[in-house]
Amino acid sequence: MTRLPSADITWRADGSPQSTRFDDIYFSSDDGLAETVHVFLKGNGLPDAWKDRSHFTIAETGFGTGLNFLATWALWQETRAPDQHLHFVSVEGFPLTREDLAQTLKKWPELAPFADALLARYPEPHRGPHLIHLDDTVTLTLYEDDIAPALRGLDASVDAWFLDGFSPASNPDMWSEDVFAEVARLSRPGTRFATFTAAGFVRRGLQAQGFDVQKVSGFGRKREMLVGEMQAPPEQPIAKPWYHIPQTASPGSALIIGAGIAGAATAHALHNRGVDVSLVDAEGPGAGASGNPAALFMPRFSVQPTPEDDFHVAAYLYAERRMCEMQESAPSPFFRACGVMQFARTDAEAQRFEKIAARSPLPPGHLELIPAANVADAVGFDTGYPVFLFPRAGVIDPARLLAHLTRDTPVERQNISSLVDVATDKSVDTLVLASGANLANYPETNWLPLEPVLGQITDLPAGTLPPHRHALVAGPYVISHPDGSCLTGATYELGKEGGESTPTVSGHQKNLDDLGDTFPAFQNALSGLDPTALSGRVSFRAQVPDRVPFAGPAPIEPDYLTAYDRLRHGDRFATYPPAPVHPGLFLIGGLGARGFTTGLLLGEVLAAQMTGAPSPLPRDLAEAVHPARFIIRALRKNTS
Ligand SMILES: Cc1cc2nc3c(=O)[nH]c(=O)nc-3n(C[C@H](O)[C@H](O)[C@H](O)COP(=O)(O)OP(=O)(O)OC[C@H]3O[C@@H](n4cnc5c(N)ncnc54)[C@H](O)[C@@H]3O)c2cc1C
Ligand SMILES: C[S@@+](CC[C@H](N)C(=O)[O-])C[C@H]1O[C@@H](n2cnc3c(N)ncnc32)[C@H](O)[C@@H]1O
Repeated sequence: MTRLPSADITWRADGSPQSTRFDDIYFSSDDGLAETVHVFLKGNGLPDAWKDRSHFTIAETGFGTGLNFLATWALWQETRAPDQHLHFVSVEGFPLTREDLAQTLKKWPELAPFADALLARYPEPHRGPHLIHLDDTVTLTLYEDDIAPALRGLDASVDAWFLDGFSPASNPDMWSEDVFAEVARLSRPGTRFATFTAAGFVRRGLQAQGFDVQKVSGFGRKREMLVGEMQAPPEQPIAKPWYHIPQTASPGSALIIGAGIAGAATAHALHNRGVDVSLVDAEGPGAGASGNPAALFMPRFSVQPTPEDDFHVAAYLYAERRMCEMQESAPSPFFRACGVMQFARTDAEAQRFEKIAARSPLPPGHLELIPAANVADAVGFDTGYPVFLFPRAGVIDPARLLAHLTRDTPVERQNISSLVDVATDKSVDTLVLASGANLANYPETNWLPLEPVLGQITDLPAGTLPPHRHALVAGPYVISHPDGSCLTGATYELGKEGGESTPTVSGHQKNLDDLGDTFPAFQNALSGLDPTALSGRVSFRAQVPDRVPFAGPAPIEPDYLTAYDRLRHGDRFATYPPAPVHPGLFLIGGLGARGFTTGLLLGEVLAAQMTGAPSPLPRDLAEAVHPARFIIRALRKNTS
């Protein structure tokens, strides 16, 4: 279920919103901003608490109108030192619409520049965390979900809590013992909290979780409120230690091996978090699979949502938003949101499309199901089956995107044959391996079930096909370029590593045949082409068996097998040690046939893990992309 319940508000005479669902106000009708400053900022000792901290994380229960966040950002901008980074995570189960947010925030002209930036990036409602980049030093992770699953899914080390549900009497879910337990799990000694309420059960609930709690004077007519500091969180066993990401201090420097979309996205994300990044590539940026002249950008899902499916949707939504934002300041556009049409080809596929559309896997405006009867009007030829239209998907110019992502990062040409040697030679704190189909060529990674899959694309000269506004996909795909030429592909040859590195005539012929078979309307036009005269490109996808990419710390495989051997016997209750990983080595790869959809979010996931920032993925999705999943699954099946 991706749809979220709406906020249900009415407007008060003073122009502020009131929740009809909870019969409560979002902020004090005396002076909401002054209340925020008193309760949450001063209550948490800000700005002093973030002084001298290179990364500071605030988490809030109840994003509401964003007033607390905006007031925090304004104070941050006034008081922060260079090279400091603020991560603000806020959970919201009933998001306000952008219009209602805009209407509310007009009340605070002093926050207008911050509010405008937030409104421009406020995501469409969709269950799960939304990573929003607001300026070079501030990220907001708006976690849209009910409080209990959201906090359970969160992976962060919080420095200060803003506990801001509606009043405990009308909104008990926000003040439950489960919520306090999760707050404690995400805290460390010294973590502070502040809240407007002085309710006895809130005080006792937080004390029971290890907070030292004090009553201090409240705002306006409220006599008292609570503030406090974590002394010692209760000992909690780490769930699934094999996937646990230890919270570490941000590294000073990182070297990334491989300048394709995976390496470039990670470089960009790390640079934005203040890490000194360098990139090496054996042949230069885009030399591998990321070097095609155009790449399709579109979502992928299955009938029944699984964590893997949710990951692909989250990655798509993030990348679509992020590319549009980044493009605003890029010298030349790298993303053309021309829309993508995906064609069903059989009765079974048509039924699948209908089931997927019925569960609305994407927010409004992202997916239309065009019934078979209307397809001819939409594309100019009939297929007898329905079509998915993704109006906001489109086509990426890989070279320009890579150039944008690496604009602050030098790329050096070097073929890395030993990870140990390169770490010593370059004296960096951290290594990221992003070498595509070559990623498993090292002793540290040769256990990964990575398969190279050769693929060839074919250019079709201008005038061959009638230009189509949308990219068309149905297995084979065809992208119309603005100059009238097209790109089609791609062949798929498993395990052809070390094989062809230039396009072959047979590869072109296969692409033409597949396109003609799939779209008979194109057959005539294609039959006139001479495959020996066509150009194209070959490269290798890096594919893993479950078709989900991986990003995370590099497991030491033999040590994993020993440490978690009892999983072979299904022993979930044994005491397991922390995950044995190669210190300072991270992996990002297995991007398969959709690297341009998943790469940007994966880069952020990895950068968050490396710098101790809140994860932009819920824990179950971070597990679905963890490189250790292959080892753990094999242990569980007793096949390793
Ligand atoms: C024919 C074809 C068509 C595709 N079409 C699409 C599409 O339309 N949309 C889409 O989203 N995806 C598409 N893909 C998939 C997409 O291209 C990949 O998922 C993505 O490019 C993988 O990115 P990467 O950074 O992991 O790997 P790569 O782009 O392969 O980058 C790895 C880099 O590592 C470098 N390297 C390797 N070994 C070393 C070493 N020892 N030392 C230093 N550097 C090294 C390489 O030179 C290379 O630049 C396609 C793939 C193919 C093959
Ligand atoms: C007092 S308001 C928050 C005000 C907000 N901090 C601001 O700056 O405007 C409380 C918020 O908690 C949200 N909320 C209530 N119950 C929730 C639940 N079970 N899960 C997630 N959010 C919830 C409400 O929708 C509301 O936005």
